[in-house]
Amino acid sequence: MPKDHTSLISDLEEKLKECSSSHDIANIKSQYLGKSGIITNKFGSLKDAALDERKELGRSLNILKTQIQNLIAAKLIEIQDVKNDNKVDITLPGKNISTGSKHPVSITINGITSILAKYGFTSVSGVEVEDEFHNFEALNIPETHPARDMHDTFYVSDDKLLRTHTSSVQIRSMLSNKAPLKIMTPGKVYRCDSDPTHSPMFHQIEGLYIDKNVNFCHLKGVLISFITEFFGKDMEIRFRPSYFPFTEPSAELDIKFKGKWLEVLGCGMVHPNVLSNVKIDTKKYSGFAFGLGIERLAMLKYDIVDLRMFYENDISFLSQFKGLK
Ligand code: DAH
Repeated sequence: MPKDHTSLISDLEEKLKECSSSHDIANIKSQYLGKSGIITNKFGSLKDAALDERKELGRSLNILKTQIQNLIAAKLIEIQDVKNDNKVDITLPGKNISTGSKHPVSITINGITSILAKYGFTSVSGVEVEDEFHNFEALNIPETHPARDMHDTFYVSDDKLLRTHTSSVQIRSMLSNKAPLKIMTPGKVYRCDSDPTHSPMFHQIEGLYIDKNVNFCHLKGVLISFITEFFGKDMEIRFRPSYFPFTEPSAELDIKFKGKWLEVLGCGMVHPNVLSNVKIDTKKYSGFAFGLGIERLAMLKYDIVDLRMFYENDISFLSQFKGLK
């Protein structure tokens, strides 16, 4: 390569080292390769060279031009890379990935069923559109029984209704499975009722255990340890005598909450009439049952004051349950 070409190249390399933007590079490119650039001028002066040298000069000028183009292109890529690297500011906080949360009713159902599952209860579901036999009659609540008034039923036809409690699933299970039996039945129930503490749809879970020699002590033992596990601490608990047509004797379980006794669930020994209605031999088998409102338990556990919060889909309410299962 001619000497002046070598120094041209090292000159260019020096200049490119100083460049920090594509604008600087564009300037250099026009200095060398532009209309009146150094290389363009050199090509222009070829015509003044002696004929026998012209070919060789042209060849080495072409090599020089390619070298210059390559150097400039390489520098452009280098600058682009640096620019791209600078685009990622690693000091910025990461982007929040919003992951939603489980609904407190689902969390509570999961909490309850996972405790009862440890005690041997199997989860079963019934139907939400029930008939009077499963929802009332078989549970010892005949048509004239005053307890039917307590239930404010939604009828969908003359004899079909939206189940008013999950106790109807007891009947379905006892009819389709023989004793012994140990089931839990989480699900939706419906009543004509709507105010800050009542909703026309809410959730219940029923427990039923039928076997030989089941007695009230078993019922108390299961419920006391269930309540303790559910709230995660020893609670003040009392059983208060009560009345349900499908249990005898019947009780309600209260817990002491912020200094007050609050009713948490209903329970009792399955009434012999109920066992007879589903053809279970009352001389051989006995059993206990209990039923509780899921929202009620969730309100106590998470200190929720208004039942309507469960159904309003307010993100700021729901997001408080993030991470719970
Ligand atoms: N079915 C009752 C209700 O909806 C709750 C209940 C009470 C269920 C006592 C039971 C029970 O199994 O033994 O209010």
